[in-house]
Amino acid sequence: MYDISHFSKEQLAAFDLNHLWHPFTQMKEWSAQEPLFIVKGQGNYLIDVDGRHYLDGVSSLWANIHGHCRAEINEAIAQQLQNMAHSTLLGLSHPSAAVLARRLAELSPGDLKWVFYSESGSTAVEIALKIAFQYWQNVGKTEKHTFLCLKEGYHGDTLGSVSVGGIDLFHRIYSPMLFDSHKAPSPYLYCMEHALPLDQGAEACAKEVEKILERHHQELAGFILEPLVQGAGGILPFPPGYLKKVEELCRRYQVLLIADEVAVGFGRTGTLFACEQEQVAPDLLCVGKGLTGGYLPLAATLCTDTIFQAFWDDYAKLKTFFHGHTYTGNPLACTAALASLDLFEKDAVLDNLPAKIQRLAQGLQRLKTLPPVGDVRQMGLMAGVELFQDANTQTPYPLDQRVGHKVCMKVRDHGVILRNLGDVIVFMPPLSITAEQIDEIILAVEKAIHEICS
Ligand SMILES: Cc1ncc(COP(=O)(O)O)c(C=O)c1O
Repeated sequence: MYDISHFSKEQLAAFDLNHLWHPFTQMKEWSAQEPLFIVKGQGNYLIDVDGRHYLDGVSSLWANIHGHCRAEINEAIAQQLQNMAHSTLLGLSHPSAAVLARRLAELSPGDLKWVFYSESGSTAVEIALKIAFQYWQNVGKTEKHTFLCLKEGYHGDTLGSVSVGGIDLFHRIYSPMLFDSHKAPSPYLYCMEHALPLDQGAEACAKEVEKILERHHQELAGFILEPLVQGAGGILPFPPGYLKKVEELCRRYQVLLIADEVAVGFGRTGTLFACEQEQVAPDLLCVGKGLTGGYLPLAATLCTDTIFQAFWDDYAKLKTFFHGHTYTGNPLACTAALASLDLFEKDAVLDNLPAKIQRLAQGLQRLKTLPPVGDVRQMGLMAGVELFQDANTQTPYPLDQRVGHKVCMKVRDHGVILRNLGDVIVFMPPLSITAEQIDEIILAVEKAIHEICS
């Protein structure tokens, strides 16, 4: 057996600092500190190489649902492993991919029937964009070649998903490599800029979408958005009713609605899928992250039968969707996803959410009273606390002060792992978090803000 346990902490740190390029990380900053090695997960805790416990306040990048090392998921994966680790879906099938496809079709909102697997949220989005584009090619509307998306939207890091992304900090540098897309305002920021209370903003924000649709619908294949709340943009909730209005507009202007539920899916907003909250039926749905309970890399793109039928023809007509990855629908990952869906039922996960969401809301209200906190935003068990140099005038901290980052490093001293988006402190705990653990995370953030910002 290949055993890594004989390496010392110092050796591991040297390997990391000399060879490992970390994602979304300025490596100069990284190299100035000792890497924190996590060696174990247990329930809602991560445990480091020295045995210290930390609450996983961002569910290992918005993925973990039921806690770490759940016996039910571990056993399901181990059992599948006894049979095989991997076999392809190109030209063959296997049971867990088929069973999961049926289950996802049953659980998902609207009329979604067909499931196309991949390994990450980015690839699920890439696939949705390609299916939407090719759908219109296959039905003869070849002028529909581009997409509508939202400013501050985030759909992943591959070039297609960056083309429909709206976060300048991450995306602008790649602009010469990207295809053009149309961008409607971020609904939350639009409401703030126009001093519109969020609960009254749906009409005005939808009007902005309609202006673009009126002018460009003939060239638009789809409108992609993160339903109910823009995540990586800074946890920016939609005005209530906006999503429904967008659905109506998409239908009216014959533009496919692509719901990217990679972050918000699997209970994060309080319902299994965010679209359910406004009875929205997307044409395409992207899921990832929490699909396997946060255990293994698996994503899926779901579509309606209407879309699927446009690809159905004799081979020589060349309507096939020529796309697929080596590990598409990996059996271990599909099995983990099935076990995770079982746990939703066994643990009554969705029934237990309202009390936790309420507890988080109470904690956020307390944080709101701290001087640097200029805004708190919540959607279900997702929340963002935004820090400002002057909260009254909403004057940001200078970029080089890295205040959000410092607060998140500091919360580690108080036994919590969090990750910031700029100066927004993000809360995204596993759905298995307890009310007491929510209080612990809030308290850790309160202390860290005092220590860094005063
Ligand atoms: C809404 C949304 N879509 C897509 C992605 C990309 O997912 P992945 O990092 O698995 O590629 C993310 C990741 O945060 C996301 O939040």
